[in-house]
Parts: sequence; structure tokens; C-alpha cells
Amino acid sequence: MSTSPILQVSDLQKTFGAVVAAKDINIDVTAGEVIGIIGANGAGKTTFVNMVTGYLKPSHGTIKFEGRDITGKPPRLVTQAGISRSFQVSQVFTSMTVYDNLLTALAIADSRGLNALKPIKRPDLERHCEETLARYQITDYRDSEASTLPQGVRKLLDIAMAMVSKPRVLLLDEPTSGVSAEEKFSIMDIIMNALKADQVTVLFIEHDMEIVERYVSRVIAFYQGEIICDESPEDALVDPKVREFVIGGEHHRGAAEARPHADN
Ligand SMILES: Nc1ncnc2c1ncn2[C@@H]1O[C@H](COP(=O)(O)OP(=O)(O)O)[C@@H](O)[C@H]1O
Ligand SMILES: [Mg+2]
Repeated sequence: MSTSPILQVSDLQKTFGAVVAAKDINIDVTAGEVIGIIGANGAGKTTFVNMVTGYLKPSHGTIKFEGRDITGKPPRLVTQAGISRSFQVSQVFTSMTVYDNLLTALAIADSRGLNALKPIKRPDLERHCEETLARYQITDYRDSEASTLPQGVRKLLDIAMAMVSKPRVLLLDEPTSGVSAEEKFSIMDIIMNALKADQVTVLFIEHDMEIVERYVSRVIAFYQGEIICDESPEDALVDPKVREFVIGGEHHRGAAEARPHADN
């Protein structure tokens, strides 16, 4: 049985004046994949995510979601179609409680984003809210103001909010940025278990190769706006180009002994 891709990106390109931020990007994503997007700063990762989610219009190329052309559609319509995202800097309403943040996100999703920037108390929404708190293990923080949350909890809330519209594809920009080394695996375990339960296809930008190795089924590496590697994590993390232009660039920037060993 052959399955058609849930997301199909063809010949995508984005230029900013003389800067080519994305070039010849071709990706077929199969439903259920968990894809790690890696690349040094400026490689074009966020530009790619912004084009898929409607925050940037491509200069060239097409984006198809579930067979429909969504190229150039605004973010609200992309979200309605079934693609959601989180940002590198979390977008929670800092002066609201965790519970009201979730209720507000639900109200926005429920109203198709047309009004409601405030929580709406309605039994079905409130029940959904309680279930979400439990699934993301943040029930203890239910009544805490979002500004007071530890970074990891804030990330969980952010992703929980991105999921209330029941997307089939979720894009995350560095889910573990700002999360401590001690916490990163436990936070990612909660996130990935919750996303797996919802059977959502995930693409996430990540700098931490330990996270990439542990959680993704496929790695796409960007370098200067182009894809230099699209393979399993086992193969990608030992790929010479990835070691030179991604991993070396991240962890050994400027060091004389810059070339990492490729023997593990
Ligand atoms: N709005 C913009 N205007 C001009 N140049 C941009 C803009 N956004 C990104 N760029 C450039 O595009 C390239 C890719 O950037 P970006 O996608 O943010 O990389 P990454 O997320 O991998 O760090 C960089 O050279 C960056 O300076
Ligand atoms: Mg970025």
C-alpha cells in the first residue's frame, strides 16, 4: 500500500534581497513521522517553518497539505486547514493563569480565530482543558500565572496550546530551548507522548543532537538555505556534511580543533 504524503514541499525558495534563505527545498512528509530539522544559525530552518505555516510567502515553489495547495495562505487559514506551530520564544499570555491560557486558546480555535482573545467558560471547553492539563502533566500549575512558570512548564503549556486546534501536522521551533539539561528529557518525554497519543505528524527544529537522536525518525539538515542531508538519525548524525556544517558549526565554532570525530 502506498500512502500519499501528508505534507509535500516542492522546489521551495525564499530570497530576502540578495540573501537566499531557502533554495530548492523538496520534502515529502508521511503521516506519523517525527522529523528533526537541524542546521547552524542562519541555515534557513525558521524560514522553512515560516513558509509552511504561512508566516512568510515563498518566492517560488509549492506547499501541499493533505493534497491541497496551501502555498501563500495566511497563518490563520493554514491553522484552520490543520497545521499548527509553536515559536522559539513561547507565545503564552503571561498575565493569565495556565488554565485561562488554555481556555483562551480553545476559544480562539473554536471560534476559528475570528474573535475571542479571552477565556470562555463552557462545559465542553473546560473539560477539554482539564484533559489537556493532565496529558501535559501541568495540572499542578493550573492556577499559576504564566509569567511565574519554570521554562519547561511554559514550553509544555505552549505546545498544549498549539495542539488545541487538533492539527494533523505540528511544527515546533526548538521545543527544548531554555530548558535545563537535567529537565530536557523528562520534558521531551511528556511532549512526545502527548503528541503520539494525538497521532500528530511532527517537524521540529532542534540544536541538541541528544534530543534529535532520541526522539526523531528522520533528520533533515539545512545548510545555507539548502537541504544537505535527509536520512534516518543514525545515518544523519555520522554524515560527513552534517558533521562539518551542522554539528561542527554548533559545538566547535571557532575552535582550532574544530573537526569532530566521526567514529561513534
Ligand atoms: N525577514 C528577513 N529579512 C531578511 N533576511 C532574513 C529574514 N529572515 C531570515 N533572513 C535571513 O535568511 C537566512 C536564514 O535565516 P533563518 O531562517 O532565520 O535561519 P535559522 O532559523 O536556521 O537560524 C539568514 O541569512 C537570515 O539572516
Ligand atoms: Mg531559527
